[in-house]
Amino acid sequence: MKILLADDDLITLRMLESTIKRLNYEVILAHDGNQAWELIQTAKPDIALLDWLMPGLEGLEIVQRLKNNPLPKFIYLILLTSNDRTEDITTGLDSGANDYITKPFDKDELKSRISVGARVVEYEKRLERMNAELRKYSSEMEALAQERARQLVQADRMVTLGTMAAGIAHEINNPLTVVQGNIKLIKRVWMHDVNPVFQESERHQKFSIGSNAISDLFNSLEKASVRMHNIIDGMRTFAHGNGGEIAIFNPQECVDDALEICMPKTKNRVETSANIPPIPFPVKGNAVQITQILVNLIGNAADALSGTKDAVIHISAQGTPQNHLIFSVQDNGPGILQENIEKLWNPFFTTKPVGIGTGLGLFICKSIMEEHGGKIRVESKPGQGATFFVELLSEAEFDHFMAEKEKKNPQESEEAREG
Ligand SMILES: Nc1ncnc2c1ncn2[C@@H]1O[C@H](COP(=O)(O)OP(=O)(O)OP(=O)(O)O)[C@@H](O)[C@H]1O
Ligand SMILES: [Mg+2]
Repeated sequence: MKILLADDDLITLRMLESTIKRLNYEVILAHDGNQAWELIQTAKPDIALLDWLMPGLEGLEIVQRLKNNPLPKFIYLILLTSNDRTEDITTGLDSGANDYITKPFDKDELKSRISVGARVVEYEKRLERMNAELRKYSSEMEALAQERARQLVQADRMVTLGTMAAGIAHEINNPLTVVQGNIKLIKRVWMHDVNPVFQESERHQKFSIGSNAISDLFNSLEKASVRMHNIIDGMRTFAHGNGGEIAIFNPQECVDDALEICMPKTKNRVETSANIPPIPFPVKGNAVQITQILVNLIGNAADALSGTKDAVIHISAQGTPQNHLIFSVQDNGPGILQENIEKLWNPFFTTKPVGIGTGLGLFICKSIMEEHGGKIRVESKPGQGATFFVELLSEAEFDHFMAEKEKKNPQESEEAREG
C-alpha cells in the first residue's frame, strides 16, 4: 500500500514519514500542494495525508477537486489540521476528506487512523474486484443470450425447411418431370431428323417434329430449369448458415421467396396474392431474416385457415411518408381472441396442439424486428381474420439505429454485422 505525505513543514514531514514507514507502508513525499496533486495523478497512492495549509494548492482544495472529479482509483484522504481550528474539521469532511488528524499529532492515533484507512482501501479494492467480475459475468451472460437468440433464429429457419421439405421436393419434381420428358423427346428428334446415321436405319418409324415444336420444347425446358433454380435458390438463401447479411434489399424478392417456401402449406388450399409496388426509397436490413418473418406469418395464417372455406392470404407492402416500409400479411381466418393478442409475442405461447406448434414463431419475428429497430404488430377481431404489420426503418434511420447500437455495445454489433 502506497501512502502520500504532503506537508511544507519539513520536521512534521519527517516525523510522519518515520512513523508510517515503521508500519511497513511505502511512502512518497510532497513538499507543497502542487507536488502533492501531481503525485496523486502519477504515483496513484492509496492513502493521502494532506496538510491543510500548504503553498500552491491547499489540502482542502485538493480534497474538493477530487470530490468533484473523482479518480478511477479510490484514494483515502486524511487532512492534517491544527488543533486550534475545530471548524476546519467539519468543512474538511464535508468537502470530501475521509478523516482528519490534528497537529501536533499523537503517534498512536496516527497509526490507528492510518490502519482504518488501509482497511477501507482494502474493502474498496475488494469491491472493485467484485464489480469487475460482475461486469465480466454480466457481459458474458449478455453475449451468451445474444448467441442463443441467434441460434434460435437459425434453428427456426431449419425447422421451417424441415417441415416443408416434402412439399419442396414435390415442387421440384414437377419441373424435373418436364425436363426429363423433353430431353427424351429431343433425343428422339435428334436421332431421327438430324443424325444421318440413325436416319437410314430408323426411317421406318417415320418420326418427325417441326422446328416450332423444338423451340417450344427448349422454352419449356428453360422455364422448368428456371423454376427449379428459383426453388433451390430460395431454399439455399433461407437456410444460409450465417443468416444472411445486412444490405439494401428488394421487398418483392422477400415476398416471392417467402411464398415459394410456404407453397407446400398453401398450395390447393389457400389462395395467396401479393401486391408489392416499387418502393421509392432504399430499404436496408437482413433480407434472409425478413423473409423468415414473412414465412412465419404466412405459415401461421395458413394454419389458422385450416377450417376456412375460400381461404385467402394477401401480402402487401407500402412506403410511408417517413420512408418506412410496412409489409402486411392479411388472412380471412378465425382471427385472434382479444385476451391472446398480448400473449402472442411471448415465447412458447401457442394454441396449437402439442408437437405441432412450439409458440416460438412470433417471438422470433419480434426479436428479429428489435434487431432491425423496427416494429411488428397485429390487428384482429375474432371471426374477422388477422392482419400482421411489419414496419422497417428507412436506410438512413437504419444506419443511425445500428450506429447507436454499436456505440452501446461495439462487440455485439460487430458480431451481428458478420451474421
Ligand atoms: N394469422 C393468425 N390467425 C389466428 N391466430 C394466429 C395467427 N397467427 C398467430 N396466431 C396465434 O398465435 C399463436 C402463436 O404463434 P407463433 O407463430 O408464435 O407460434 P405457433 O405458430 O403456435 O408455433 P410455431 O410457430 O413455433 O410452430 C398461434 O398458436 C396462434 O394461436
Ligand atoms: Mg408459427
